[in-house]
Amino acid sequence: MEELKQRIQEEGIIISDQLLKLDSILNHQVYPDLVMRIGKEFAKRFRENGISRVLTLESSGISIAFAVALELGVPLVFARRKKTLTTDADAYCERVPSFTKGIVTDIVVSKSFIHPNDRILIIDDIIANGDAVRGLIRIIQQSQAELVGLGVVIEKSFQAGGRTIREMGVPIESIVKIASLDNGQITFG
Ligand code: G4P
Ligand code: NA
Ligand code: NA
Repeated sequence: MEELKQRIQEEGIIISDQLLKLDSILNHQVYPDLVMRIGKEFAKRFRENGISRVLTLESSGISIAFAVALELGVPLVFARRKKTLTTDADAYCERVPSFTKGIVTDIVVSKSFIHPNDRILIIDDIIANGDAVRGLIRIIQQSQAELVGLGVVIEKSFQAGGRTIREMGVPIESIVKIASLDNGQITFG
């Protein structure tokens, strides 16, 4: 999507060779028309897969995942982050480290919202090391639902997340890949 690359070039702020601030398009503000076009693109790529639910993680994944779920005509489930682990027999829970934030969080999905016969599409905004997505994958495994694939808006391909998840045999569709943030430049590919 050339449009998205252009927005990233115009509005992304390079914080370091690892981190690109995208508050104005993904993490603090969203453009609904752009989000809807991204949702349509994912829906096109996954439409033939018999998806019954879209799964994401709060908070920044929700807008994109909403657009995808709307296009596919299925419910959206967003895993919630819990700061304190209160054991809940009615929920799937996985512990996830965050490289960027330097903290560990527990992500939780009620057993009411993923069923063993579900075919799940995971949607996320940015994949870096992939810890959050691997947490979602473990939740799907616990539920015995089928993971159909993963759609990510931006894959930072210089970090290991996308590769390690492909190696698990999960089909991944990335709208945009960022190969490098070196030398104060955003390099796609
Ligand atoms: P991982 O999930 O791929 O392992 O990534 P990591 O732990 O490194 O990332 C933690 C959070 O930081 C994630 O958001 C992830 O999307 C975000 N992130 C990682 N690299 C970048 C980057 O270069 N730019 C931006 N803008 N975000 C990045 P999150 O914890 O799910 O938070 P939220 O945005 O949903 O609140
Ligand atoms: Na994020
Ligand atoms: Na996210």
